[in-house]
Amino acid sequence: MVDSPLPEGIKLTALDEQFRDDPYAVLRRLRDEAPVHEDTELKRFIYTRHDDVRSILRDKEVWSDPRKANPGTFTRQFLGNEDEEPSMLMMDEPGHRRLRSLVSKPFTPVAVEQWRPRTQEVIERVLSSIVTEEFDLIAQFSGPIPTVVIAEMLGIDPAMHEDFKLWSDISVATCFNPYTSAEESQAADETNQSLKKFFSNEIASRRKNLGDDLLSDMIRAKEAEETLTEDEIINQCNLLLIAGNVTTTDLIGNGVKALLDNPEQLQKLRERPELIENTVEEILRFDSPVTNSGRIANRTMDVGGCPVQSGESLSTSLAAANHDESVYPEPDKFDIEREDTHHQSFGGGRHQCLGAHLARLEAQEAILALLAKYPNLSHGEKGFEYSAIPSFRGMRYFWVSTT
Ligand code: HEM
Repeated sequence: MVDSPLPEGIKLTALDEQFRDDPYAVLRRLRDEAPVHEDTELKRFIYTRHDDVRSILRDKEVWSDPRKANPGTFTRQFLGNEDEEPSMLMMDEPGHRRLRSLVSKPFTPVAVEQWRPRTQEVIERVLSSIVTEEFDLIAQFSGPIPTVVIAEMLGIDPAMHEDFKLWSDISVATCFNPYTSAEESQAADETNQSLKKFFSNEIASRRKNLGDDLLSDMIRAKEAEETLTEDEIINQCNLLLIAGNVTTTDLIGNGVKALLDNPEQLQKLRERPELIENTVEEILRFDSPVTNSGRIANRTMDVGGCPVQSGESLSTSLAAANHDESVYPEPDKFDIEREDTHHQSFGGGRHQCLGAHLARLEAQEAILALLAKYPNLSHGEKGFEYSAIPSFRGMRYFWVSTT
């Protein structure tokens, strides 16, 4: 019998039904048979071993700017817009360090901790708006929470929250998607224009009346005599929206699903809410909202026994790394008391997620408040469906019952 060829291209993205249903089974096969897998369709090398992913992400020399990737490779072709400065996520040094240091203060653990009471208020407000016995957890609970929190951090009028949500959903659907349709690209371009216009107006009015919010801080930001330009502030706001909203929504959604699918774990958390921190880390490991990150080889590199040339796209599978059985005993088991819950879900090295502490805080508070309000929470009759967005993992809808 001839083994089926290893999957490539679309089959390794959430656009493929089999991958969407169980990415971990597909990725396990890659890790077992070709831990450095050349995806000749999308022109990238996919890494699925924990240690390989970790070492690429933490390599201080590799590049992130898609304009440095070889023509035709995944990163250059799908992420490299030659006319625009990339966001911080895709910048190299020294520009990346400069920008990151100018905006990182509000995201340190101590600064984020100050947002706990405001976050609890937002969650209570969102919970009190739910009045039916069955509801869609994504649309009515996990979706609004991060949007409202980040909008409040930026000092944006609450009336704009729904637009914010829509903008970030549209942007995420296309940002890492090599199979974007013409209509989706057009919607993303229009969204980008709306966001630019919106933030440009906000900056103009805020300059006249600086407040105690993140956008005012960015306008004020001065470090080593440097300031952020208007374009940089707008780029940064876009990145915060795109990087932070859908991901945190998915973290809460994936977490509640993992708990409902594992009633003994749910029961344990109900009895011992102090396990919430470990629970959120285990959710991040078990079902990460971001499945992939990437870098560009800056030299001939040999990670995992497969030499790749300078300029090649390196795609690091965070989802696969988090389920590597050589690191995690029984990796497909959801165990909120797992001793080693370290994971790659926030990436690593210079580009490690800036919003990690905020995402953790929101998920911890959201899950605890939801369980406290609904002692009988269970799967709803209308079920759930995973989103078809490459590099992200979350649900389009997820109905839960409160009775
Ligand atoms: C569960 C939620 C989240 C997940 C899973 C997540 C995941 C990630 C990942 C994988 C990266 C790339 C890291 C790398 O390549 O090494 C990243 C970068 C980033 N994330 Fe997050 N993120 C989340 C929430 C947030 C939030 C709430 C914010 C801000 C409000 C945020 C802001 C950023 C920024 C600004 C970067 C770029 C950092 C840089 O390039 O230096 N993220 N995130």
